[in-house]
Amino acid sequence: ASSLQASIERDDSSCRIDEEYADVNWDELGFGLVPTDYMYVMKCSLGEEFTQGKINRYGKIELSPSSGVLNYGQGLYEGLKAYRKTDGSILLFRPEENARRLQTGAERMCMPSPSVDQFVDAVKQAVQANRRWVPPAGKGSLYIRPLLIGSGPILGLAPSPEYTFMTYTSPVGNYFKEGSAPLNLVVAEEFHRATPGGTGGIKSITNYAPVLKPQTHAKSKGFSDVLYLDSVNKRYLEEVSSCNIFVVKGNTISTPATLGTILSGITRKSIIEIARGYGYQVEERLVSADELMDADEVFCTGTAVVVAQVGSVTYGGRRFEYGTGAATVSQRLHSTLTGIQTGLLEDKMGWTVEI
Ligand code: COI
Repeated sequence: ASSLQASIERDDSSCRIDEEYADVNWDELGFGLVPTDYMYVMKCSLGEEFTQGKINRYGKIELSPSSGVLNYGQGLYEGLKAYRKTDGSILLFRPEENARRLQTGAERMCMPSPSVDQFVDAVKQAVQANRRWVPPAGKGSLYIRPLLIGSGPILGLAPSPEYTFMTYTSPVGNYFKEGSAPLNLVVAEEFHRATPGGTGGIKSITNYAPVLKPQTHAKSKGFSDVLYLDSVNKRYLEEVSSCNIFVVKGNTISTPATLGTILSGITRKSIIEIARGYGYQVEERLVSADELMDADEVFCTGTAVVVAQVGSVTYGGRRFEYGTGAATVSQRLHSTLTGIQTGLLEDKMGWTVEI
């Protein structure tokens, strides 16, 4: 913390890092951007390794109009959260998993990536510098958004000559405007999110703009979001625009296997481990959309979404409804996961990292 304080003072002597809390209405947090004080920035050239990152004031960045990210979409992002415990200390949840996922994605997108230690250190520095923006215990979390982009100029299609890794933060509450009310999803009939051999399995920025049109349409019809099917058979569940999907039938919890077209969610993986620990049979496999017809429960998982109950899925013009409320499998898994993340439950898995 002292070297961080020194680097911040060099950057901006008027900082107010000692204030305990920022001026935020913590009861009204949604998932909108609340700009915080600082961001972490680190650059490197193609063929080299990331070395010296630093904390800068949060703000606009300068980017060449011909940068790889703006012209050809050479970019990846990550998402993780920091929670404040009741004793005031701050917990990160499995940050090395995000670091490793970024490395896998960077390899696919021809980008250099920070080491796991550099990534985790960047996240810690960004949270530490923005500590006063971490909501009080029970009021939400500080969402952390690492970005890796091709920032150097390039005209012909080729990897960018320079890369920038940045990490900024924003305090957040519930992701969906529904709050914690059950979601009403609609299966996309015409659009697909990913194809075999493409980038659906990594957190490429290019996976997200194409879902805006079906998502906007679905929202205009009153749905919360869109559930995608595979693009080859057009019958197996893949994922929702911003989260993974699970289907519960009796004691069995099924979720699409990560075969390259769906994101390897860290919440997904954690929920699978928690559910197995409770004795549920968890199956990672092809899950047919027909299984939506007689499921007991459906729920979504993601860093932003956490564990969200699905009240209905509309598929092929029919609306299927599911169990929701406090006595559900998803609610049990949600309580355990958030209990570990916020330090209310003992972390037997060693998933949390205190800052
Ligand atoms: C996350 O859950 O962290 C994501 O990256 C999803 C995003 C669309 C908010």
